[in-house]
Amino acid sequence: MSLVRQRIGRFAYGADYNPEQWPESVQDEDMALMKRAGVNLVSVGIFSWARVEPAPGEYDFGWCDRVLDRLSGNGIAVCLATMTASPPPWLARLHPDSLPRRADGTTLWPGSRQHYCPSSPTYRAHAARLVERLAERYAGHPALALWHINNEYGHRNARCYCDVSAQAFRDWLATRYGSVDALNEAWSTTFWSQRYGEFAEVFPPRTAPTFQNPAQLLDFRRFSSDALLECFLMEAEIVRRHTPEVPVTTNFVGGWFQIDNSAWAPHQDVISFDSYPDPHDPGTVPEAAYRYDLMRSLGGGKPWLLLEQAPSAVNWRDRNAAKAPDLLRLWSYQAVARGADAIMFFQWRQSRGGAERFHSAMVPHGGPGTRTYREAAGLGAELGGLTELLGSRVEAETALVMDWSSGWALENEAHPVGDLTQEETSLAHYRPLWEAGIGTDVVSPKADLSGYRLVVVPNLYLTEPEAAENLIEYVRGGGHLVLSFFSGIVDACDRVHLGGYPGPFRDLLGLRIEEFWPLLADWSAPLAFADGTRGTGNTWSEWITPAGAEVLATFADGDLAGRPAITRHAFGDGVAYYLGTRPDPETMGSVLRRVTAAAGVRPVAPDLPAGVEATVRRSADGTRWLFLLNHNAFELTVPLPEGAVDALTGHPLGTTSELSRRGVLIARLPG
Ligand code: GAL
Repeated sequence: MSLVRQRIGRFAYGADYNPEQWPESVQDEDMALMKRAGVNLVSVGIFSWARVEPAPGEYDFGWCDRVLDRLSGNGIAVCLATMTASPPPWLARLHPDSLPRRADGTTLWPGSRQHYCPSSPTYRAHAARLVERLAERYAGHPALALWHINNEYGHRNARCYCDVSAQAFRDWLATRYGSVDALNEAWSTTFWSQRYGEFAEVFPPRTAPTFQNPAQLLDFRRFSSDALLECFLMEAEIVRRHTPEVPVTTNFVGGWFQIDNSAWAPHQDVISFDSYPDPHDPGTVPEAAYRYDLMRSLGGGKPWLLLEQAPSAVNWRDRNAAKAPDLLRLWSYQAVARGADAIMFFQWRQSRGGAERFHSAMVPHGGPGTRTYREAAGLGAELGGLTELLGSRVEAETALVMDWSSGWALENEAHPVGDLTQEETSLAHYRPLWEAGIGTDVVSPKADLSGYRLVVVPNLYLTEPEAAENLIEYVRGGGHLVLSFFSGIVDACDRVHLGGYPGPFRDLLGLRIEEFWPLLADWSAPLAFADGTRGTGNTWSEWITPAGAEVLATFADGDLAGRPAITRHAFGDGVAYYLGTRPDPETMGSVLRRVTAAAGVRPVAPDLPAGVEATVRRSADGTRWLFLLNHNAFELTVPLPEGAVDALTGHPLGTTSELSRRGVLIARLPG
């Protein structure tokens, strides 16, 4: 049964609830307003460590007891945080060695949050002691629906370079490589006289005169993710021991990739995500869609929880846009459309003081008589009617490949192009699929790909043999694959695959690349397609020699004129396409249209106007739910399949429907 249905009974709706910031008397109003807004789940205690442990080993849970009792008395469930994300000031005073350090040696002091070194035994011991007490105390509490471990691991302290971390890094390396000789081999340390005589000589990649060892940089990112994962697992073990029936999660964060979510995902009972699209940014909607697809895919397609989003403006950008009318609703449904079974906000009541006093909340400074509260309450009422949707899965025929190690290595220094980022390249390939309404999962290169008609692989710079084999076998077995430049270049230690690029994919693609010819940032490369059409590429060009591949497009001028830019190669029972440049958005769109048509990939709903996002969720009983989201600020008409019923009103729909500006339609389709 769906986790949310089991734990909450309804679509989960709520916010971070920080009543410790207010006199207790405010809680009466909180309860009344929560009920009016349809709130049924709140995250409690995320930053409450100093409140419940005011001095080392002295606990005062009275406040927390009363909050939990009050919530359960009002029928509101709790996602209880383990409170370890912001240690109390006394920890830093007594144990300054628990503070994290940057690569340049700067200590990160208390006065903000996340000021702990993930490898610090002192931090871990104090955190474990607190979590033990919490879990013991609240085991069996009727409000406890879910554990929220720590908060946004790695947001501000992902990599710590202090002496404690240095020793932990050495231990991690000793386990990974077994001997210092193996480390030297893996890190190519004969280069620039970096050869180590013993592990004790190794440091984290602290600030250095020039380019650092790429394998060291990469391993330090892996180590840092693992160090935080150890913290997570330590806490998860404690709460699971006390409350084996209560699911455990931690909130992942989008926009950067500090921790390897794919390695963490198997340890979550449910995937949770914090999402902060920027209303000022025209690219924010497909970006959010991409991240939601990634989160859903991390959980193997199971529903996930949107644990945080802003009801309106955030406070941490240079210019913080408010959400225009109906955007709170539209963007919440975007997460639902992409598989979320919970919609939560940061936070319930807007802070009066502290660094987030200008961050929006469900109850703004102006109180409940505000647009934000009204819109939030309206959404809460609606979601209450969508219980049937819980547990349904998003349909996807296409997969986009993403790998953390490869992304980290791609972003290392001293490359042919210095500004390629994983997120940007993933999005450049994802956006046209989103625009075309094509259901897409975001998966590891080692994932089972057999269920997909099409697999798109943006710049998989680091390619391990197992990943290469998986992609090759997928095509051999009849799959359609698109692979873009600077893929298959290095191994897990950032050492180049020899014999001509892209080492492991040459036969698959039927070509060989001898040299990279990157383009300056403001250049574009005209492309001539074999069918007479034109296009442009940017960022990259290269010297490709076909060895069996059919040339779909050539570079149209300059020294590469007439040489291949985009190719197609029949391989086994499938087809592998190769992009030797970054097609501009329009060209990428037309290339992917051709490829999806050849692969038999269909949009989830045909003939939609631009700016209308579409997905389909399918329930276990076969019921299909079509989501149509109008991201335009004007009304329009959308076509619908016959027999559709409006899931929000229960009314039958015709074969077209009006969709208001920023409007949402959820249509239950005939089975
Ligand atoms: C998140 C964090 C919350 C809050 C929010 C503001 O990153 O988990 O505690 O700070 O940002 O947008």
